[in-house]
Amino acid sequence: MKIAIVGASGMVGRTFLSILEEKGFSYSTLTLFASPRSAGNVVKYQGHDLVIKELNEQSFDEGFDVALFSAGGSTSLKYAPIAASKGCYVIDNSSAFRMDPNIPLVVPEVNAHELMNMNGYIIANPNCSTIQSVLVLNALKHLGIKRVSYTSYQAVSGSGYQGIKDLERTLEGNAPEYYPQPIAHNVIPLIDVLLDNGYSKEEIKMMEETKKILNLPDLKVSATCVRVPVKNAHSVSIQCEFDQEVDLDQVKVSLNAHPFVKVSDSIVTPRDVSGHDVALVTRLRKDLSVDHGIHCFVIADNIRKGAALNAIQILEVLIERSIVHV
Ligand code: A2P
Repeated sequence: MKIAIVGASGMVGRTFLSILEEKGFSYSTLTLFASPRSAGNVVKYQGHDLVIKELNEQSFDEGFDVALFSAGGSTSLKYAPIAASKGCYVIDNSSAFRMDPNIPLVVPEVNAHELMNMNGYIIANPNCSTIQSVLVLNALKHLGIKRVSYTSYQAVSGSGYQGIKDLERTLEGNAPEYYPQPIAHNVIPLIDVLLDNGYSKEEIKMMEETKKILNLPDLKVSATCVRVPVKNAHSVSIQCEFDQEVDLDQVKVSLNAHPFVKVSDSIVTPRDVSGHDVALVTRLRKDLSVDHGIHCFVIADNIRKGAALNAIQILEVLIERSIVHV
């Protein structure tokens, strides 16, 4: 299997590498691409030095089987179709293709079956906050979900190295260079751009992607997305209403059945999941303000389960189902 990583110098790109290394993935070649800024930089992988190459229109001529992309939407829009046209499966972490009806948007624990009916070679990896949220909702789907309301508390690592640097910079008392306001000792109730309807693009991503992944096009879902001064791991407060009575013990059993989800009876925080693969669900309780509803708080490492790990789980399904051959 010939693997390419696009955006290899970035936060998610580096995590693709560490997860492939942790899992002992077998491959024949592993090629790293980034912008001209990092071309020539050396990355250590399994004791070898890998040199980052500049991405260009000929990069996919050498016949890759799979490319993991995390280099932003415009890079994906330009280069993913080139890779796909050469028979390379692209697992894309940007939002460029997520809502394309012909492209599967996959969280393997929820809708891996979408990978069996693909028309093309591009697969979209969902938004980080959406991934951890749909893991919870999927376990509740059989109860007939009437309405969902999300509030996210998103770490600065979701903006890549630029976000982390801006947190450090503003913690030292300097002016922000990336976020519109200082993120240190603050929260910013806007992620991505504000749209004419009053929602942010990030909120619309959470709302629309949730419906697509769960295959519930008429689901009523709303979101408020907030950037918080946490280095890594996103939290999402979920309020969910159902058509019927909910048994919390049953919900716990369904959630714990996922290998990467654990319900915790104690209070857990982003620090407890940063660097780990599991999504922790805490504060699970009935919503006393409606007939049939729950509240919970789900926390996950947005760079691992929210991005790189989910993409590699997609790759594992492609291999298991012989769509990609090792
Ligand atoms: P580079 O480091 O050379 O700029 P992050 O989200 O952590 O900031 O990472 C973004 C990743 O996307 C980096 O690896 C970055 O490379 C890469 N990238 C950004 N723009 C391009 C581009 N035009 N072509 C290839 N890679 C790009």
